[in-house]
Order: sequence, then C-alpha cells, then structure tokens
Amino acid sequence: MSVCVPPLGLPGVVTTARQVRARITAHGPMATNTWRMRIHAPEIAGQILPGQFFMVKAPDRSDPLLGRPFALFETYADASGNVTELDFGYIVVGKLTSLLTSLKVGDEVELWGPLGNGFPPPPAGHLVVVAGGIGQTPFLSVLHEALGQRNYGRPVETRPDKLTFCYGVRSASYLAGVEDFRLPGVDVRIATDDGTAGRKGYVTQLLDEVLKAESGPVTVYCCGPEPMLHAVAKLTAAASVPCLVSLETPMACGFGACFSCVTRVKQEDGAWDYRRVCVEGPVFTADELIWD
Ligand code: FES
Repeated sequence: MSVCVPPLGLPGVVTTARQVRARITAHGPMATNTWRMRIHAPEIAGQILPGQFFMVKAPDRSDPLLGRPFALFETYADASGNVTELDFGYIVVGKLTSLLTSLKVGDEVELWGPLGNGFPPPPAGHLVVVAGGIGQTPFLSVLHEALGQRNYGRPVETRPDKLTFCYGVRSASYLAGVEDFRLPGVDVRIATDDGTAGRKGYVTQLLDEVLKAESGPVTVYCCGPEPMLHAVAKLTAAASVPCLVSLETPMACGFGACFSCVTRVKQEDGAWDYRRVCVEGPVFTADELIWD
C-alpha cells in the first residue's frame, strides 16, 4: 500500500483523515444488488469510529472523477491484534459502484478517511437502531461497541441495558448482512414491504411498537432513506425520545471544501443555517434538522 499526499489540509478543515491506496482483501455480493468490500487500510481502520465514513475512488481513473462516501461496516484485526482492515456495503447504482463490482481481491482502491463525526459512545437505557435499505451498515460497529465486544479507542462509560435492531427492506433478498446483527443481547426485528421476511410493512411500524412497549429511557439511532428518517424523527418527537440520524447525503469532496452536501439546521434564535454533512455530520439530532 502506498500513502498519498492527503488533499485535506484546507484552512478551517480540522481532520485526522488520511488518503491511502489500499488493497481489497475480500469482496462479494451480500444481497440483491448489494455488495460488501473489505480493504487493508490500517491507517484508517485503526482510528475510525462507529458512524464515521470514508470516501472510495477507483485508482488511476478520471471517470468517474469523484469518490463516493461509504459508512464503516466494521473493522478487523490481524493475528497480532492490530486493527488493519475495514469494510463497507454498497448498493450498485451508477458508474462508480458498477465499477467497484468488477474489482477483485488484490486490486486496489483509493480511500480517504476517517471522515465525519460518527455516533457518540453508547447511551444508557434502551438503544434502538433503525435501518432502512443499505442504512444498516453504520450499526454493526455501534452494536459491537454497545455490547462491549469491540473497542474503538475511545472511553465508553455507559452501556445500554437493552439493544434492538429494526431493519426494513423492500423484500427478503435485500436483507444485507443481517446474520451479522443476530448477536446475543440484540433483539433483531425485520420488516419487508412485500412480507417475504419478518413483518409485512415499514420499519417505522416496528419502531412504533418498540416505543409503545418501553417505559424506560430510550435512545434511537437511525440511518436510511430520507423519508424513513423523517418518519422516525416524527415518531421519536411524539414519544419525546432522543433520536440521532445519519444522513446519506451525496458528497463530492468529503472533507468540507465543496459545500455539495449541505443540509439545513435550526439555530437557537429560530433561524436556520446550512451545515456540511461531511464535516458537521453525517450524524445529527433529528430535532435540529429541517425536514421539509
Ligand atoms: Fe464537499 Fe461536504 S462533500 S463539503
């Protein structure tokens, strides 16, 4: 692997991100139109946190010119215990992801990261993670950390006493990596639009049931398509439950320079302002975002 000059030292951009050219160590489909790629990138894998992301680009190509953001799925240690690899999941849509499917073990990609803020250390009480589509990928590391099964190099002072994973996809064949989430201590609930797995209906119905059955403190983390995030934000607001959402906003640079990823955030004085999802996000509190 060669370490390249990072394009990240821009004024006002504070980051420990690195740009590397890294070898693919595993790659293959994990659901319909959905793939998982593992990369040997110790510079990034050793410092990335749950909910952070990295940009991936095909090397030595100008088409597609830009990289794309992918959330961390999980990191992996070598036989000596050093964290050297990470992986991500992706749905095949567009030029870059189509190109990625043609890459094989031993090929290289460019990536730069870790980027973004990520999720905070685990809360106490009941943590409910809600995912739609490919939005499950940030949550495997979240759950591993919450269970005490993984350490990402930051202090963890509390752990949830209950963990629920609600996952919604259109059909059973789109359930991506769901077996990885069936961990002791995690209540896995599935919803499919067509009823081919789990409950027939939307993942928000699963969340609604969990919230109605819980009388103790709950925190909700959510990632997926924006209409789903908005529906979850409404449900959690109605239940007075804190909710963090990870936005899947398209990005061009990933490090704060191009402003292609902005979202509107409420201000204390009642006005709103733009925030860059790649730097100030991708994780925001649901009630600070302007959804309409
Ligand atoms: Fe360029 Fe966020 S992607 S500023």
